[in-house]
Amino acid sequence: MCSSFFLKAILLYLAILLQMNVVVSGLNLSTDDDALLKIKTRITDDPRGVLRSWNNSLPFCMWPGVTCGRRHQRVTSLNLTDKGLVGSLSPFIGNLSFLRYIILNDNQLHGSIPPEIGRLSRLEILSLRNNFFTGEIPTNLSGCSKLRFLHLSPNRLSGRIPNIFSSLQMIRTIVLVKNNFTGEIPPSISNLTYLERLFLGDNPLGGSIPDSFNQLKKLRQLELGANGLVGEFPLFFYNLSMLELLSVPQNQLYGNLPKNLCLSQPHLKILEISDNHFSGFLTPSILNCSELEIFDASINDFKGRIKIDFGKLNPVDFKNFFDSLSNCSNLEQLELSRSRLIGVLPNSLGNFSSKLNYISLDDNYVSGSLPSSIGNLFGLTLINLGQNNFTGLIPESIGKLRNVEGLYLPLNAFSGIIPPSIGNLSFLTQLYLDWNKLEGTIPSTLINCKNLLYLDLSVNKLRGSVPKEIFQLSSLSIVLDLSQNNLSGVLPHEIGNLKSLGYLDLSENSLSGELPSSFSTCVNLQTLNLSRNFFHGSMPEALSSLRGLEYVNMSRNNFSEPIPTYLQEMDLKYLDLSYNNFEGEVFVKGVFANTSMISIHGNRKLCGGIPELHLPKCTTSDSKRGSRKLSARVVIAISLSSTIVGLALVSFILFYFCITRNKDEPLDTISTKSFEKISYGRLFKATKGFSAENLIGTGSFASVYKGVLDESGLIVAIKVLNLNLQGGFKSFMAECDALRNIRHRNLVKVITSCSSIDFQGNDFKALVYDFMSNGSLESWLHSIHQMLDLAQRINIIKDVACALEYLHCHCGNVVVHCDLKPSNILLDTDMVAHVGDFGLAKILSLEGVSKANNNSSSVFRGTIGYAPPEYGFGSGVSANGDIYSYGTLLLEMMTGKEPVDLVFEGGLTLHSYARNALADGSVLQILDPGLLNENTDEQSLISLVKIGAQCSLESPHDRMDIETVVHDLISITVKTCNQS
Ligand SMILES: *[C@@H]1O[C@H](CO)[C@@H](O)[C@H](O)[C@H]1NC(C)=O
Ligand SMILES: *[C@@H]1O[C@H](CO)[C@@H](O)[C@H](O)[C@H]1NC(C)=O
Ligand SMILES: *[C@@H]1O[C@H](CO)[C@@H](O)[C@H](O)[C@H]1NC(C)=O
Repeated sequence: MCSSFFLKAILLYLAILLQMNVVVSGLNLSTDDDALLKIKTRITDDPRGVLRSWNNSLPFCMWPGVTCGRRHQRVTSLNLTDKGLVGSLSPFIGNLSFLRYIILNDNQLHGSIPPEIGRLSRLEILSLRNNFFTGEIPTNLSGCSKLRFLHLSPNRLSGRIPNIFSSLQMIRTIVLVKNNFTGEIPPSISNLTYLERLFLGDNPLGGSIPDSFNQLKKLRQLELGANGLVGEFPLFFYNLSMLELLSVPQNQLYGNLPKNLCLSQPHLKILEISDNHFSGFLTPSILNCSELEIFDASINDFKGRIKIDFGKLNPVDFKNFFDSLSNCSNLEQLELSRSRLIGVLPNSLGNFSSKLNYISLDDNYVSGSLPSSIGNLFGLTLINLGQNNFTGLIPESIGKLRNVEGLYLPLNAFSGIIPPSIGNLSFLTQLYLDWNKLEGTIPSTLINCKNLLYLDLSVNKLRGSVPKEIFQLSSLSIVLDLSQNNLSGVLPHEIGNLKSLGYLDLSENSLSGELPSSFSTCVNLQTLNLSRNFFHGSMPEALSSLRGLEYVNMSRNNFSEPIPTYLQEMDLKYLDLSYNNFEGEVFVKGVFANTSMISIHGNRKLCGGIPELHLPKCTTSDSKRGSRKLSARVVIAISLSSTIVGLALVSFILFYFCITRNKDEPLDTISTKSFEKISYGRLFKATKGFSAENLIGTGSFASVYKGVLDESGLIVAIKVLNLNLQGGFKSFMAECDALRNIRHRNLVKVITSCSSIDFQGNDFKALVYDFMSNGSLESWLHSIHQMLDLAQRINIIKDVACALEYLHCHCGNVVVHCDLKPSNILLDTDMVAHVGDFGLAKILSLEGVSKANNNSSSVFRGTIGYAPPEYGFGSGVSANGDIYSYGTLLLEMMTGKEPVDLVFEGGLTLHSYARNALADGSVLQILDPGLLNENTDEQSLISLVKIGAQCSLESPHDRMDIETVVHDLISITVKTCNQS
């Protein structure tokens, strides 16, 4: 019984052996053993002794690096990664016919890849990464039909990549980078329907990227960098919706980027196309690439401006972005205001270029603390980190930045004390720490900031008394704002040192005592706000000598005694004495004459005043009358027709400066409030003290600044008239006159104005306009911006024609602009053109038109090149003159040449240049070359040049009139004038 069991067992064993022999197709078990030993003999050095145990004392399936199948004891995997092996790979590897994995990464194997590998029909992985293999890829490899992973990089393989892939249908990954492969990319790769990753970079490959790659529907990563590939941006790209990485840097690729990048590749994370010859515009469609992490388009021939939405950077990207900036050793300015940045500034900030002189991260969502490494950036002159979410201390190290002139940290959540080291910043002119959570006292070291013009520490938690030293900063000529803190104590006598200060705000503190008489030397004070403190006593006589004072707020203190008489004689715009203990008579003159300009409630012992105040009558004992001298500036008798009333802003200008009288209407009391004129102080604040940084242009009579109106955040352009120049005031009046009744979508809109005196006591006049974010046409025609395309140019040509048609024909009078030129044409966000600068404009009455030429004026109007020839001969201005300027402008836009271009010296003008070209049919040759690239109708281009030439004829009477121009333009395109 027992023996029969054994017999059965032996039979079973034999049966298994037999069966196995069938499976192995007659190969002997000892073959694998043999092959492995043959492989071992080719290894000349085995520093770690891995192969020492490859001998018959152990079953070969237990040899290191060898794995066998569980059932059949055949070698399925040979993995000798990183064993330091030196030698070559034996052809006997081809005998290991059950092999699925060959992994020999990170050794020092040389010689060729044995073609016998092609016999391994079960092979799935062939990975010879990081060795010294030479020779070609054996074509026999086509026999490995199950291969799904082929990694041969880096090695020293050469020759062409064989065209074997049609039979390797399972391949998902091919990595052949960093070899010496030549020739073209084999087209059979396109047949690999499962291919996900293809890396062929760093080879001397040539030819183009096969179009048939559009069949690689599963492709996720394509890397072909540093080859010699030629051709256009791969069109196959559109079909590859799975693509995450496309890297083709350092090739000879050219052409435009596709317009709808990322629409069909929503998962694109890395796009590297640097160091090629790509051209055209860097399309804004990059913005569609919501998952993009790396985009490198450097060293190409792109033009245009790039807009990047940093709001889509996640905090990690943000850190990487900043870290990478520290590699930019020539970085001088970093301007990322309003870029929707979210994240924490990394310490690598301190590694930024020593050349960095300007950093502005204003109005973002940067949080965390300000790294103290910022103290390493010695080159900084301006630091603007306002309107973020910074917390923690202002680092002491900031005191090391000796060159800083402007330090702006407002609207954050900085806490702790103001570091006394700020006193080391001796060049500091502007210090804004307002709207934070700063505590402690105001450091007296600020006395060392001898150049400080502007100090704003308002809205913090500062306590203690205001150090005397602050009041010794005689440089403080602009703003001292310490409002909304917990400051206490009395105002020291030293306040009299602030002789040039214009704006003093100490409101909402706990200051007390009487006001020092030394105030009398603060002669430039325009705004004085002491409200919500505990001051007492009388309003000192000292204030009477502050002739520029406009805004005075003494409310909610304990002031007592009668209201001083001098107040009614000052040019105050606003006086708030409410909630005090003033007593006696309220006057009726000056600021007291207008209830909207004073506030006196909450004083129980007052009497008199204008009836609207409803105060009790004064008894004779109350009554004290001072002398009265009314300033003519305050009360201006005016009237406005009801139509103008609708035009609140424009009419406001009229209200103050352009005094007109409509006989049919009675004097009308308009609420001055609704037209509240903007003050010098607010414009000052809006333009950061009319800083050079905000200066966007200078003209003959004015400088134009960009500004942000504090309360609304509205961005405006502020034209400050140079009243010292002869003509400055005249220009201001001309502009007011011209803009009086006119309103058109193609004219710049005036929002408000300012007529006041500046902090030095000089007259100051400014007009405030809508800000045109795309700047002037001039900057687009002749400088940095991307080129205007034909459609944009035609629109601008039409916009300007519409504006002129309105000015000449549809606004009641004939308004002649007199200075039409590209720098006076401004473009808004939508590239709609607006004609601006009416400083030379002239209004002709309707009868005046017919005899326009008699309307002589000895002053030359306009700008050389654009002004018509007749103005040079003393002829009066006329609508025809504007037409000449318009024609010149039109020709400039079509040819890209300025009328004063060198080409036109020696008698040739832009007009004759165009006329000659029209005569001999060579118009296309004189056009701006950029316009011809487009798929445009040549006839339209010629018609436009014709209009330009007919408008710029020498004889005023031969020129077209604007209505004909508009009519002809409409026939070129369909858009019509909108006269709203
Ligand atoms: C090969 O061996 C290395 C190191 O011994 C190991 O890390 C790796 O996972 C192995 N590869 C495979 C596919 O088994
Ligand atoms: C690359 O191959 C070329 C011939 O095709 C040869 O001349 C050159 O030396 C090789 N370069 C290297 C680094 O092997
Ligand atoms: C792709 O494979 C098919 C057969 O499977 C073959 O006919 C065709 O020529 C191959 N294409 C390329 C480009 O090799």
